[in-house]
Amino acid sequence: MTTTRTQVAIVGGGPAGLLLSHLLHVADIDSIVLDTRTHHRIATTHRAGILEQDSVRLLTDSGASDRVLVDGHEHEGIDLRFDGVSHRIDFRRHADASCWLYPQTDVFLDLHACRTRDDGDLRYGLGDTDIHDVDDHPYVTYTDDDGSVHRVDADIVVGADGSRSMCRASVRGATQYFREYPFAWFGVMVAAPPSAPELIYARHRDGFALISQRTADVQRMYFQCDAAEDPSTWSDDRIWEQLRTRLSGHDGFELEHGAVLEKSVLPFRSFVQTPLRSGRLLLVGDAGHTVPPTGAKGLNLALADVRVLAEVLERAFTTADFDVLSQYSDRALARVWKAQHFSYWMTTMLHRLPDTSDFDEQRQLAELTSIVGSDSGSAYLAEGYTGWPTTGRP
Ligand code: PHB
Repeated sequence: MTTTRTQVAIVGGGPAGLLLSHLLHVADIDSIVLDTRTHHRIATTHRAGILEQDSVRLLTDSGASDRVLVDGHEHEGIDLRFDGVSHRIDFRRHADASCWLYPQTDVFLDLHACRTRDDGDLRYGLGDTDIHDVDDHPYVTYTDDDGSVHRVDADIVVGADGSRSMCRASVRGATQYFREYPFAWFGVMVAAPPSAPELIYARHRDGFALISQRTADVQRMYFQCDAAEDPSTWSDDRIWEQLRTRLSGHDGFELEHGAVLEKSVLPFRSFVQTPLRSGRLLLVGDAGHTVPPTGAKGLNLALADVRVLAEVLERAFTTADFDVLSQYSDRALARVWKAQHFSYWMTTMLHRLPDTSDFDEQRQLAELTSIVGSDSGSAYLAEGYTGWPTTGRP
């Protein structure tokens, strides 16, 4: 068995783990990033595509990525579409803010390139990763391709290993909060030009639909479906029929069509585990909490966790006082719960529940009418969507 030593062992080499490794490197703290997935698998798994403005600032100010400002697209609003008419929520006007369309896979590629450029120790495609002794002398073990066992000793272990986190189980005495939803999203990547300059969140009596974008000739779209839906049984025509119906209306809007390049069904749930720390183990991002995708908060929350954690770790290492680690969980969770509420609220305002009554439907339409018809309602949505400030304590 080979043994390596580092200050921070980061389990999970997605955007959260890599950004943490980068911020620690800038603060002169060394880390090793360990992931059971391959680089290829992470780079080809489609995730959401919206960055809050403070996420963009964090990536650019820390020197991790300037490409977001070149290849990303700034969006200053979204359309809420219901009763066949689109209503724009103007982020600039209501929150003096914007967000950026920039896919998570690109964030990953930028951060990976940044850490590689700085000679970061990144280990992907590992087998049997496990964490040990998180209360006193934490270490991580894994096997490599030829089956030999490696050990990484660290002062701190960070679980950045996503929604199926292995690290999560090592937090002693944790409380878990769950909310399941009786539906899922059918996601497609299609070869078509954009249908609108910004994203469209549509509420229809058949269910929700979202028109997002990727490039000039590839778009990302979703529609609400049954959680047990099998995407392989859906023809392109059937998919377009659903999307057309849910976006139909009388304001002249037309959906651009094209070949369906990829299709999948996305799980849908809200989850929080508290606390996010046990001894020398700390959880960031989906390892500690999951949001439904309405509002695209998942990646943004993970990056906000990392920002707080990097600051706390820097203080711990410069003062050699690891008691400051106790601040992390509460500081991160304040934002997590706000985002939980926002994602839940956007979800329930726009989706159809299986046993919806006529009353529920009229109430839902009245809620949407109130939001788009009121400056304070629109400001509430705009603030939440573009992200609450990350500077200072929440
Ligand atoms: C996406 O572009 O994939 C996306 C955008 C907004 C969401 C969810 C997903 O709320």
